Amino acid sequence: MAIPKALLLAILGCLCLSSSVRAARELSDDSAMVARHESWMAQYGRVYKDAAEKARRFEVFKTNVAFIESFNAGNHKFWLGVNQFADLTNYEFKAMKTNKGFIPNTVRDPTGFRYENVSIDALPATVDWRTKGAVTPIKDQGQCGCCWAFSAVAAMEGIVKLNTDKLISLSEQELVDCDVHGEDQGCEGGLMDDAFKFIIKNGGLTTESNYPYAAADGKCKGGSNSAATIKSYEDVPANNEAALMKAVANQPVSVAVDGGDMTFQFYSGGVMTGSCGTDLDHGIAAIGYGTASDGTKYWLLKNSWGTTWGENGFLRMEKDISDKRGMCGLAMQPSYPTA
Ligand SMILES: *[C@@H]1O[C@H](CO)[C@@H](O)[C@H](O)[C@H]1NC(C)=O
Repeated sequence: MAIPKALLLAILGCLCLSSSVRAARELSDDSAMVARHESWMAQYGRVYKDAAEKARRFEVFKTNVAFIESFNAGNHKFWLGVNQFADLTNYEFKAMKTNKGFIPNTVRDPTGFRYENVSIDALPATVDWRTKGAVTPIKDQGQCGCCWAFSAVAAMEGIVKLNTDKLISLSEQELVDCDVHGEDQGCEGGLMDDAFKFIIKNGGLTTESNYPYAAADGKCKGGSNSAATIKSYEDVPANNEAALMKAVANQPVSVAVDGGDMTFQFYSGGVMTGSCGTDLDHGIAAIGYGTASDGTKYWLLKNSWGTTWGENGFLRMEKDISDKRGMCGLAMQPSYPTA
């Protein structure tokens, strides 16, 4: 049966109309997204070298926003945000922040574990070293892969406070510039245990204000006055969250994680759960643990990506998961300095 011409026109007209409505909607979606990108650029002080770079970054931004919004529409115990990494592909993010930031520790030292006989039952249900004044404000490593220095310094600041009752912000840059032994290579990566070894040999570290952070490799300015020191360091037995809990209940601890997933890149709050890699590439510090209102047990961690990432720079990750390596591998290589 032939379709009457008038009806055919009407059908085509409808299709044309709906597709033009769709095109118009996409256009206005894009202009809303362009505006969003502009205000994000202003918020984070981002400047692009030319229009082509801006157009390319806009596409990445748009893709990331779509990922973040679709993740947040799902049912999760944590959520993501359009943070300072929103115009980076996950590949670029990994290359910049983590890839060589932390070098996996293939040979761990037989250092002893002073908390081995601590009774788990005797530990407090909640620990947050911030409330005891043992955690300095969140720092920002910028575009330098020296997370290892920030992780080691955070743990050291903690034990120094517990030992001397003084909270002193210590210098990561001294480690970046002067600690060139073992695996430690400034912005190109390093290892927390090697940082502890250097600090012991160096007779301590100077203050942050005495040797400020430059987010780049520099020449070692020797002769810095040490503001605090450590005696030694110990490795927490690997792949053992109970052992990690004993240590964290007693002092802030350096931990390595796989920080390369998109959920890590855009983490904004809540307790991170679910699948995560275990290719260790980032050093942070465990500064407590607890239980969320919905009963999920978590580790409380201090990151070094400024306060616009995570929970004002902090992170909570699920604790006591079935994988012995812990969430994102956090139980694989923890260690702490001793005073
Ligand atoms: C833990 O207890 C065992 C058995 O009593 C003992 O041999 C070991 O030295 C203790 N460890 C520490 C770190 O005190």
